[in-house]
Amino acid sequence: MKTGSIIGISSMKPCCNILILGRNSSIFGCPLPKSGHFTEYNLSRSQSKLYCLMKKKCFHSNKVLGFRSVVDSNRRVFCGSGSNWGQSRVPSVWAEKNNRFLSVIANVASNTRNHSSSVESRVNENSFEKIYIQSGFNVKPLVIERIEEGQDLVGKDEGTENEHKSKVDDGANASTDQFGKAEVLESTPERHLSDVEKEAWKLLRGAVVNYCGNPVGTVAAADPADKQPLNYDQVFIRDFVPSALAFLLNGEAEIVKNFLLHTLQLQSWEKTVDCYSPGQGLMPASFKVRTVPLDGRVGEFEDVLDPDFGESAIGRVAPVDSGLWWIILLRAYGKLTGDYTLQERVDVQTGIRLILNLCLSDGFDMFPTLLVTDGSCMIDRRMGIHGHPLEIQALFYSALRCAREMLTVNDSTRNLVVAVNNRLSALSFHMREYYWVDMKKINEIYRYKTEEYSTEAINKFNIYPDQIPGWLVDWIPETGGYFIGNLQPAHMDFRFFTLGNLWAIVSSLSTSKQSEGILNLIEEKWDDLVAQMPLKICYPALEHEEWRIITGGDPKNTPWSYHNGGSWPTLLWQFMLACIKMERPELARKAVVLAEKRLSVDHWPEYYDTRYGRFIGKQARLHQTWTIAGYLTSKLLLDKPELASILSWNEDYELLENCVCGLKRGRSKCSRVTAKSQIAV
Ligand code: GLC
Repeated sequence: MKTGSIIGISSMKPCCNILILGRNSSIFGCPLPKSGHFTEYNLSRSQSKLYCLMKKKCFHSNKVLGFRSVVDSNRRVFCGSGSNWGQSRVPSVWAEKNNRFLSVIANVASNTRNHSSSVESRVNENSFEKIYIQSGFNVKPLVIERIEEGQDLVGKDEGTENEHKSKVDDGANASTDQFGKAEVLESTPERHLSDVEKEAWKLLRGAVVNYCGNPVGTVAAADPADKQPLNYDQVFIRDFVPSALAFLLNGEAEIVKNFLLHTLQLQSWEKTVDCYSPGQGLMPASFKVRTVPLDGRVGEFEDVLDPDFGESAIGRVAPVDSGLWWIILLRAYGKLTGDYTLQERVDVQTGIRLILNLCLSDGFDMFPTLLVTDGSCMIDRRMGIHGHPLEIQALFYSALRCAREMLTVNDSTRNLVVAVNNRLSALSFHMREYYWVDMKKINEIYRYKTEEYSTEAINKFNIYPDQIPGWLVDWIPETGGYFIGNLQPAHMDFRFFTLGNLWAIVSSLSTSKQSEGILNLIEEKWDDLVAQMPLKICYPALEHEEWRIITGGDPKNTPWSYHNGGSWPTLLWQFMLACIKMERPELARKAVVLAEKRLSVDHWPEYYDTRYGRFIGKQARLHQTWTIAGYLTSKLLLDKPELASILSWNEDYELLENCVCGLKRGRSKCSRVTAKSQIAV
């Protein structure tokens, strides 16, 4: 139990929800309770809801942020949008103390740099690093740095009008900000857009969500005929990535910057005793901008950012991939805009560290892969992918590589950087060695001995050869191969999962030989994996008893529908990145041509059904934003392949040198040596 984490729950007094440095503190005349133990303030869920409402009044100066926003400890962000826009709703005592407030926060921010998280390195021990957040100081600094520099933070209230200009000739307004003009983008000549592209841009802009008058994301779907949008009217972190890339590649950075900063504010940073609360560092799956009446002001409203960490999501799935996507997008923002100041900010650095700490913390698991529940990624329903699914591992590897580039190295991060490097090294070894299958490997598994008890076992996971599915023996081509979907004791999930395999290529989790192998397999199995609509989310579908047992009889995930072998056009942009990286753009171009024939005519569906992707999905939303954005991003990347290469990674030989067996005392042989053949490029 942390004793110093007394933020929020312990006090309903105004102004105390942000800067509480320890027990018995008092800030701005707000006395804190004597004890810092959460247990003493353990509220029931209904009580804490009530508390949330009261917390609305506990806001800090929205003036300092340059927009009318308040943050409460439940990570809801509020923003007034009343008629008196220019005036602050901040209590006068706050307004008066504004200067002092700023300097106090600045201190907190820099203190946090030194104290908020640290990693205890035990590199020479038989385990990976132990990560911990120092108890008593798990305060996440607020977004303030730029204000002190006299700059706008998350968009501009005024003056944007003049800057409105569109790089693409789509007939719609697009704003560019100061960082939307990276050299690499500026040098690209404007291109004539087809009617389909024009329509796509129009729809993408129509999906933009504003918060306090500034764009902060795109809704998942804006299907005009949809009477029951469920949560498709929310901004999903993973869904926004292709939108963000389309905007960035088009020289529009403001919305992406706003998104990154606002989601950062929503990031969970306090673990409460309520076991249904998200853990520190978790990023929400999605958020919604709600406009609610302003307390005590007739006819005035405020915008509220309301995150969903899975507590409302169907199946209550925890979005493990959100934080990973956030880090990946943060790096892409820097690469495409040239604005590296964003990732250098103290609050952003803290956000990265919180995500990493969550991912790198010790558990019972012995593998370098991340252990997660079913449905913790793009496949957010029960599909038998719990354990160590490929998608999460590939995104995890990508995010670690991003973090390695972006983390500011100082005394407080040095050990974290070591932990990141070790994990990268171990993860790539593990994946390349144990997840990779091709004809030769499957034949090896087919002849495996089982029940081997020794550290030298060949069949380490005790895989029974009978597990090799009938479809695979005929399906696997002579050349090429892929990463399997999951690996557990006595269990290999041999299904082909597209996103994970593509990100393995993009991030160089796979060797270049393996990357080529994956693309060879996709080309060879085009009719199965691309068919009438790129691309299958996984192959093959679970059918009959398998479907009933593994999905729990899910009527949405019937064979060849939705997550169970459905075709998802949003995967196009990731295919494009992988193909360009491997210098095979023609393969992706072929897929774009296929998609182009149908997407607009079919009103941009979320997914397609049937074995060959012939039908619009049974319950597919139309005007699905990441379908639209995925298409646009693919077109932009095809046009500017040099930008695709700055979004991917090459083999990092330093990581290969940093042999993981250094962490495994007592092993006489370097385990890398056994994998040499696969590492060789
Ligand atoms: C579905 C998808 C998920 C996506 C969401 C919003 O639940 O499985 O990946 O984020 O829709 O589009």
